Amino acid sequence: MEVIIIGGGLIGLSIAFELIERGVNITVVEKDKIGKGASWVAGGMLAPQSEGLDGEFLNFCLESRNLYEDFVKRIEEKTGKDTGYWKCGILKLAFSEEEAEKIRQDVERFKKLGLPAQWLDRKELEKEYKNLGDEVIGGALYKEDSQVDNRKLCSTLADYVKQNAKVLENTKVLKIDEKNEKFNKIITDKGELKADLCILSAGAWSGEILDIPVFPLKGEMLALDIEEDEIDRVLYSSRAYLIPRSDFHRLVVGATQENVGFKDGNTAYGTLKLLKGSIDTLKNLAYKNIQELWFGYRPATPDELPILGDSGIENLILATGHHRNGILLAPITAKIISDYIVYNKKSKYLELFSLERFKT
Ligand code: GLY
Repeated sequence: MEVIIIGGGLIGLSIAFELIERGVNITVVEKDKIGKGASWVAGGMLAPQSEGLDGEFLNFCLESRNLYEDFVKRIEEKTGKDTGYWKCGILKLAFSEEEAEKIRQDVERFKKLGLPAQWLDRKELEKEYKNLGDEVIGGALYKEDSQVDNRKLCSTLADYVKQNAKVLENTKVLKIDEKNEKFNKIITDKGELKADLCILSAGAWSGEILDIPVFPLKGEMLALDIEEDEIDRVLYSSRAYLIPRSDFHRLVVGATQENVGFKDGNTAYGTLKLLKGSIDTLKNLAYKNIQELWFGYRPATPDELPILGDSGIENLILATGHHRNGILLAPITAKIISDYIVYNKKSKYLELFSLERFKT
């Protein structure tokens, strides 16, 4: 079977990885370079509990978090390269009584589900964090929430896919062509391409290729210089999230969230917000050097849930709209999409997160 994957971000590359493993011939078509886009500029938090998720979406995200260790191990074994997966845990901090109450409720809710979760008051946090911001009231420790170095993961996967599939970079898809309600071919700025099946995983740009409700939600980020081992877990709050990279002397700080379309650049306000959020969390961060500023576009949907599976056009499959959770959801998305394509195995999540929900 010949499959075209439109979009070479982490979702497209992860699907390519699983399909290659299942013996499928792949062509990845990417408008820039593969392994870049939102996947390159994300934070890499694997944080279903810290994000305060619930219901079936929580279950979906937890399943993906559980798959992560094995997913990256398989990639690392195949490539001999590291992906920066780190089970560091995430501490979710409260800056007001209202936030503290909500987080305490989440802790109780997660405990009932058998998930590790522990509320720590300010006194307990001060034992570990000497420079804790004055307004921090307490926080929840979620030991199973973790992180992956999304840049390492993307470049490792990109190398693997380049070696095992056809990759067309700097190739913009202009149209997906159908014949008798069935996928026929793609038309790109470099020519046409036929295949048996096509997967649309073009992130925030998916809505420009097909008429589906996916739009960009801009996020600005920055990184600060820190000492090695200075911070040993992710610190997450409504003001900012701080993600230490284990081997880089680097603290990734995210992220703003603005519905401004594709509007490139880091703004003064965005940078100020991230720096204030950092210093409000740990006071000594005020004296750190800024290493890098960057921005990206989350692929958002109206209900903040992904769009997965059938498109209404036979043999055109959707894997997009992952909103704030694309890095986390790469393993499960790749698994259920490739199992569907190769074994016709339909996960319940392909029903729950189907495009159909926007048609009723
Ligand atoms: N995953 C966090 C964010 O989208 O900012």
